[in-house]
Amino acid sequence: MVAWSIRGGAQATGVARVPGDKSIAHRAVMFAALAEGRSILRGIPRGEDVWSTIGVFRTLGIAISETSDGAIVVEGRGIAGLEKDAGVLDCGNSGTTMRLLAGLLAGVDGMQATLVGDHSLSARPMGRIEKPLTQMAATIRSAEGTAPLSIEGGALLPIEYRSPVASAQVKSCVLFAGLTSGVSVRVHEPSLSRDHSERMLRGQGIQLTTDGEGWLQMTPPYCPFTPLEMEIPGDCSSAAFFAVLGALSAGAGLRIPGVGVNPTRTGALEILRRMGARVTESNHRDVAGEPVADLWVEASPLRGLVVEGEVVPRAIDEIPILAVAASCAVGKTVFKDVGELRVKETDRIAAMATELRKMGVKVEETADTMTVWGAESLRGADFESHGDHRIAMAMAVAALQADGKSRVLEAEAAAISFPEFVEVLGGVVGEDCVGFATD
Ligand code: S3P
Repeated sequence: MVAWSIRGGAQATGVARVPGDKSIAHRAVMFAALAEGRSILRGIPRGEDVWSTIGVFRTLGIAISETSDGAIVVEGRGIAGLEKDAGVLDCGNSGTTMRLLAGLLAGVDGMQATLVGDHSLSARPMGRIEKPLTQMAATIRSAEGTAPLSIEGGALLPIEYRSPVASAQVKSCVLFAGLTSGVSVRVHEPSLSRDHSERMLRGQGIQLTTDGEGWLQMTPPYCPFTPLEMEIPGDCSSAAFFAVLGALSAGAGLRIPGVGVNPTRTGALEILRRMGARVTESNHRDVAGEPVADLWVEASPLRGLVVEGEVVPRAIDEIPILAVAASCAVGKTVFKDVGELRVKETDRIAAMATELRKMGVKVEETADTMTVWGAESLRGADFESHGDHRIAMAMAVAALQADGKSRVLEAEAAAISFPEFVEVLGGVVGEDCVGFATD
């Protein structure tokens, strides 16, 4: 077990470099595996989740190697080239791997696979993908709505599906099932979730249209995928930890270069700015069809606010770190419409409420809201990660605002998305403030 030891009161100055975007990287590996020929992917994050996707495609018979300068080389064999008798595919902790893969494999004729995950993933809801896939006539069986998922791939029916949740994983699952089975898909979500799949599908020349009512339509024919030569932008969700850190405790300012600023992902930056944070973007450019910018953050007083509605899916992974910002703001922050947090890697509402209360922060929760009252000061304590990478990193940033020393226990969870987190953090706050606890 790894524990971080953190001393409160540090100022953050300098440059925080974040790993490549996890969501884009999963999709890049999948598209590269489905392409016919060699793809070269640069900036693939070292986090375990994307390596679960890489591991799965290796089991599916795709050769994936690394070059000496860290690029990932994928020898795609086309949809028909996937190993059919795949057996057990281990998705680890990664919901994206499991849900996107379920759709992708359901449409591959002759595919026989069982998707399994770790303890956390095995408790997460899979009925949300089982339902539309079953509507498409896919053969998929779950353990009462959870993993393991057994899939027999085959011909599928076109689908028109109104998803009850704004979920890029559900949307992408349905799109990928349509893609591999060659049928048309119409999918609707209550508000727009991240659109990386759509951007990459369009990049492959596939016809995707949206209407005024939020329906997304994907229409065949789907030609063989062209191999990718792609740079993965920096992960906006990883950058959010440093954006909050900078807002709360920047010294001379904090720079976070090369961050993806796709509007379907930047809800947290918008919320922070509404709280009074000074986060600016410069050097806007396009990287692989995704907008990218450098972020600059300066410290400023924050105030509480109400977060609700369409911004929530665009900030869903950042609510834990935004709850830390709320703990240090003046007044109360009400996060509404955040029930989805209860079915992430852990119940993130319960986890953040438990951990922030240890610091003396008042937090109230209902099924789909979390209210955080800004505290005059925070107390250092021993925090649990709940086995969740984003809780570990959020509490490390919180601990830096506290009086005295803290520890973040089971901090190895951070390796799911950001194994370098503690080094990058030490680089901006000083190594005397952040390290590994030895006892
Ligand atoms: C992801 C979508 C989100 C997000 C997850 C990654 C993706 O999940 O929480 O970390 O890459 O599609 P939902 O789509 O289920 O909200």
